[in-house]
Amino acid sequence: MSMLQAARQALATAPPCLEAHSRRVALLALGAAKLLRLPDPVLIAQAAYMHDLGKTNWPQELFTKYPLNTFDWALVKVHPVAGENLALELCPDLPPLARALIRGHHERPGGKGYPDGLAEPGVEILLLAACDAYDAMTGERAYRSGGPLSVEAALLEVARFTPARVVAALAGAVVRKAG
Ligand SMILES: [Fe+2]
Ligand SMILES: [Fe+2]
Repeated sequence: MSMLQAARQALATAPPCLEAHSRRVALLALGAAKLLRLPDPVLIAQAAYMHDLGKTNWPQELFTKYPLNTFDWALVKVHPVAGENLALELCPDLPPLARALIRGHHERPGGKGYPDGLAEPGVEILLLAACDAYDAMTGERAYRSGGPLSVEAALLEVARFTPARVVAALAGAVVRKAG
């Protein structure tokens, strides 16, 4: 079984919105990575598809719960590492970049993210973080923050933690996906 088939099977155990989110983030990451001329856009897209594998063992209600309690937050905070571990189980020879992307997709510059509080996440990590945050703000999961944002408003939010060239590539990928 391929890495993607295994990931799809794992995602099928979670609510359908998670697979849909993962697929949209993978498409955005593929488009943005190509626009940035990064060396391995396909691997980045595959890792993007797997980025939230760590949510597949969440209790069902956590996907729509608001507000979150301390225990819920613990599950949220650990999902990048849980996802990295699950991806390694599904695919023992997972390339290091894919591992770093799954683990790092909630990192933010200046040590503001989790799980490792990286001071300077690399451009691939910021690209995936940007695509993930963009989809969370514009997509069907936006219930937690009071409804979906417009494309422009979501890109402005992403620009708060992502270099301008990454925001530009994401915007380009959004346009391509829509068109
Ligand atoms: Fe996540
Ligand atoms: Fe996500």
